[in-house]
Amino acid sequence: MSTAFADVARTADRFTYDRITVDPVTPTIGAEISGIDLSQPIDAATAADIQKALHDWRVVFFRDQHIDNDQLKSFGRAFGPLTPAHPIAEGLDDHPEIWERSVEEYRQRRTRQEATPPGREPPRDYKGWHIDITFVANPNRYSILYGVEIPPYGGDTLFTNLAAAYQGLSPQIRALIDGLQAVHRTTGYDGGSDKPRRDGRSKGPFVSLHPLVRIHPETGEKILFLNPGTISHIVGLKERESNALLDLLYFEATRPEYQVRFHWRPQSLIVWDNQAVAHAGPIDYAAFDLPRAVRRITVAGELPTGPDGFVSCPIEGDLFNVLG
Ligand SMILES: [Fe+2]
Repeated sequence: MSTAFADVARTADRFTYDRITVDPVTPTIGAEISGIDLSQPIDAATAADIQKALHDWRVVFFRDQHIDNDQLKSFGRAFGPLTPAHPIAEGLDDHPEIWERSVEEYRQRRTRQEATPPGREPPRDYKGWHIDITFVANPNRYSILYGVEIPPYGGDTLFTNLAAAYQGLSPQIRALIDGLQAVHRTTGYDGGSDKPRRDGRSKGPFVSLHPLVRIHPETGEKILFLNPGTISHIVGLKERESNALLDLLYFEATRPEYQVRFHWRPQSLIVWDNQAVAHAGPIDYAAFDLPRAVRRITVAGELPTGPDGFVSCPIEGDLFNVLG
């Protein structure tokens, strides 16, 4: 048996950065970056340092960043072209790249979901853990979330390291899942409105076929590409086999030693590597009345590739587009 934690734990002295200060939060995932003002343009060397920290620590946290919407987008573009806010939901009127999410939206969504017919319920109930927008074949590379209005307690965001989760599996299970693919689909989310999109693009449904393990395009690592929120089944397995294997992988992916929990303050900003982590939004949202609003942008990604060379493809719906 492999000793998962010892295999994946990192120590701070293995990682050095020229332009930024990086303080790890746990041995396996999460680091706080300081010594940088994101309201100012960042040069290529600094962006490279942030990207290196992101690949080393999977999710990075910035505090006390006073930035407007244009500065938020400028920061995001340091890492690649931006996508629209979301394949289904609309962005802000004057910033189509920015998705603002409020606690009120979550309450309305919950109400709609409770009224949804059983056939359109999410296929698996895994307490909110997900990778962003894997129902499209080219999910975003990085997600960037900025805290605008933050309550004094509640609303934390959780992240789990899917490279560590893969590495922690026995070689026999790794060999089994290396050659498998899973179907990811939209699960009844309507974007909060029946209106057509302003850009004329389809609001789905979206269905895509992805490898169950993906090769990280920048680091070459094998990543457990497990999105409990959208996977309906693993291709080629019997239903009970698919369900049992997904349950096992879900348990492994969300082991506490692979996780970090972020407690927000106003003007906090998070960047996560959507190719290497799953995250869980604040599932205590709907339980309290305190206002909360965050703004998200996403950096465009590519078609994931599996260890056997399998490349993700759409089954239904378009690829996610790029705004630049
Ligand atoms: Fe998300």
